[in-house]
Amino acid sequence: MKRPYAYIAGTGRGVPSKVLRNSDFASLGLETDDEWITSRTGIRERHIGTDTENLTWMSVKAARQAMSRAGVSAGELDLIVLGTVSPDHLLPSTAVEVQAALGAGRAAAFDLVAACSGYVYGITVAENMIQAGSAETVLVIGGEKLSSIVNWKDRSTCVLFGDGAGACVLRRSRSGAKGILSTYMRSDGNLARLLWRPAGGGASPATEAAIADGSYWIHMAGREVFKHAVRSMSEAYDRALDLAKITSSQVDLLIPHQANLRIIEATAKHAGLGMERVFVNVDRYGNTSAGSIAIALDEAIEQGRVKEGMTVALVAFGAGFTWGSVVVRF
Ligand code: UT7
Repeated sequence: MKRPYAYIAGTGRGVPSKVLRNSDFASLGLETDDEWITSRTGIRERHIGTDTENLTWMSVKAARQAMSRAGVSAGELDLIVLGTVSPDHLLPSTAVEVQAALGAGRAAAFDLVAACSGYVYGITVAENMIQAGSAETVLVIGGEKLSSIVNWKDRSTCVLFGDGAGACVLRRSRSGAKGILSTYMRSDGNLARLLWRPAGGGASPATEAAIADGSYWIHMAGREVFKHAVRSMSEAYDRALDLAKITSSQVDLLIPHQANLRIIEATAKHAGLGMERVFVNVDRYGNTSAGSIAIALDEAIEQGRVKEGMTVALVAFGAGFTWGSVVVRF
């Protein structure tokens, strides 16, 4: 049997209502300004969840929309895969909380930790399980409540991130035309400490000292990460096209991970794509890590940027490092 084994039957998103604009950081006592953030990153605002708008809430909202558009009921789900690095609890997974909230009684559920590549990794795992015959219908979610793990006193990180979740329903392909044409995943743990949380896990538990010295929160060597992001996303794009046996001229839309407009533009340049063929919403969301591509794909479909017959490339890069790509025909 040849690809496509699975297709995207519906997408959705769940985003908290509160919007934090660049100009709002001054009132938090941070020495930063709209000019710096916009010129370095392209970010203008991001959404921030309240206590009740946690990851489960965002994920369930995204899931219900994706399932309704796919015409799939909770009882039909065989599996829920949730990419995140900011789960509601460290034990158990947020995926099981989503499973319970949806009433998806037949579904296995687990979280997948691949940082900003979580959604692309999740789609890859889901497609492979469908191909293997262990699932027919899978809910894939990418989402984060990064506002709960950033250091709000560190201007070099807290201005970059936001909260939000997106979801899709993947189903076994019945016809040959539409569906996933290729997937590609890589990682390099030698670079793990360029973007990480030094404390909070088993190796260095959460203590008052860890919170006080900032090691509990996200740390990033921005400039180093930037270079790797451009290199790895370019590689992931090329590999995705090779594996799908298509060229860049056949790509209708590139949906890259939304971390920084300059990284997106560099990836587009490498791909030889004009920005009119690249989806950008980093200005309104900031970097929502695993939520990023999931939210962007849903918005792209809603805005009519993705139509039936179009070929879309999803390209991700994140902490780990992890990177990967998916080519889908809609
Ligand atoms: O999602 C996973 C992947 N993550 C990424 O892809 C992020 C990759 N990295 C980046 O996007 C960029 O490196 C940043 C946006 C994080 C930083 O941009 P940069 O052009 O690399 O700036 P920089 O880190 O080299 O910092 C330049 C200056 C520094 O001051 P000095 O040392 O030159 O005096 C920083 O202290 O900007 C200063 N700075 C700020 N100034 C005002 C850092 N953050 C801020 C801020 N406001 N928020």
